Amino acid sequence: MIGGLAVDELARTYGTPLYVLDHQTMQNRITGFQQALGQMKTPGSLHYAGKAFLCQAMAGYLADLGVGLDVVSGGELFTALRAGFPGNHMVFHGNVKTRDEIREALRARVGHLVIDSLAEMDVIEEEAGRLGVNVPVLLRITPGIEAHTHAFIRTGQFDSKFGFGLKDGLADEAVTHALSLPHLRLEGFHAHIGSQILEGEPFVANAEALAEYSVRWYRDVAWWPQVLDLGGGFGVRYGPDDVTFEVGEVLARAEAVIRELTPSGQEPPTIMIEPGRSIVAEAGITVYQVEAVKTVAGGKRYVSVDGGMGDNIRPALYQAAYHVEVDGKVGEPGVEAVTVAGRYCESGDVLIAEAHLPHIEVGDHLVVYATGAYNYSMASTYNRVPRPPVVMVREGVAETWVERETYAHLASLDRAWQG
Ligand code: LLP
Repeated sequence: MIGGLAVDELARTYGTPLYVLDHQTMQNRITGFQQALGQMKTPGSLHYAGKAFLCQAMAGYLADLGVGLDVVSGGELFTALRAGFPGNHMVFHGNVKTRDEIREALRARVGHLVIDSLAEMDVIEEEAGRLGVNVPVLLRITPGIEAHTHAFIRTGQFDSKFGFGLKDGLADEAVTHALSLPHLRLEGFHAHIGSQILEGEPFVANAEALAEYSVRWYRDVAWWPQVLDLGGGFGVRYGPDDVTFEVGEVLARAEAVIRELTPSGQEPPTIMIEPGRSIVAEAGITVYQVEAVKTVAGGKRYVSVDGGMGDNIRPALYQAAYHVEVDGKVGEPGVEAVTVAGRYCESGDVLIAEAHLPHIEVGDHLVVYATGAYNYSMASTYNRVPRPPVVMVREGVAETWVERETYAHLASLDRAWQG
C-alpha cells in the first residue's frame, strides 16, 4: 500500500514502470523543516531544491504551502512560473546561467540570484542596468568543507567548479566587485557543501565558515549579511540500515554559532536552507514489472524489469544502493539472491546488484523504495523508451502529476528526412 492505495491497483491503472509519490511523506518532511526553522530565534527560510524533482503540480503544491524554491535553469524557472509560483520566492542558482536565463530571472524578479563567477556578475549588472532594477544577490562561496557520507574534512585546498573559494582570494575579489556594482545589492553568502550527507557536523562547520567570513567584511567595510544560505544536502534513508540525523538539532547549533559571531548592533542574518532530496526521496517509489528471469552459468539469477537506467540513472552513475521488495510477497523470507537488471541496452543497467527476495516470477511487481529524488528529474529517453508517469497519492486518491510519455511525444521534435 502507498497513500492508502494498493500498489497492484496503481500498476493496473497507470501501467509500469510507475513513479508514485506519497503526499503524507512529503508533507511531513516539509513540516519538519518548517518546525525546525520556526524553533530558531533567528528568522529561517525554506527553499525546496527543484532539481530533486520538479513539475508544475509540485511547484503549485509548494506555493500553496508558502515554501520557497531553488531553481537552476530557465526550464525550472519557466515550470515554476507557469504553475503560478511567485518569482520573488525563488532563488536562482547554477554555475552557468546564460544571458537569456539571467534576463528571465530578472524579469521574474527572483528573490535572489546566487552569483557563481565574476563573468556572470558583470552580465547580471549589465542586464539589471538595462532593466533599471536593483538585484538582490548572494555569492556562492566554497568554504573548503568537504562533506562525505560518513566523514568530513576541512581543507585548505579547493577544486570545484562551483562558487568562489574562501582561501584562494576569489571570494574577496567577488565581494569587493559586487559591492562596487550599482545594480547589485549584495545580501549575503551561500554555500552548499554536498549531498546525501548523513551527519550534522559539516552543516555547523559551514555556518561557522560563512559567519566568520562575514565578520571579516564587517570589520573591514562595515558590510554585514542579511542572509546566510546553508544549501541543502540533508541525507535520507535509502535502505532500512541507513541512519540520518536530527535536522532541528543541527540547525539550532548552526544558529547558535551564527548568533555568537554576529557583531553587536547587527541582526543575525536570516538562515536559509535548500533541501531537495530530503523532502521527496523517501516519498517516492518506483513500481516495475518483471519481464524476464534468467539463471546464467555460475548460478547467478537475473530478474529483468521494464524500466532501469532511463528512469533511475543513480545506480549506474553513483553506485547508489536501493531497497527492493516484491509486491504481494512483502515479509516472505528471501529465498534467492538476484540481480535486478533494467531493460536498457547497457550491461551497466543494473538497478540492484544483489537483493535477497522471495521467489520471483515473470509478471511480479517490484517496488524500489526512496526513488522520489533525482530519478524523474534525471530520467532520459535512452533507447527511445518513454519516461514513466508520476502519480501522487493522498488519502486513497491518486492524482497524475506527470503523464506517461508516449511514442508520439518522443518523435514530436523530429523533422522528416528531406530526401
Ligand atoms: N542547493 C544547491 C546549491 C545544490 O547544488 C543542491 C544539489 C541542493 C541545494 C539540493 O541538495 P539535496 O538536498 O537534494 O541533497 N544528482 C545527484 C545529486 C546532485 C545534487 C546537486 N546539488 C544525486 O542523484 O544524488
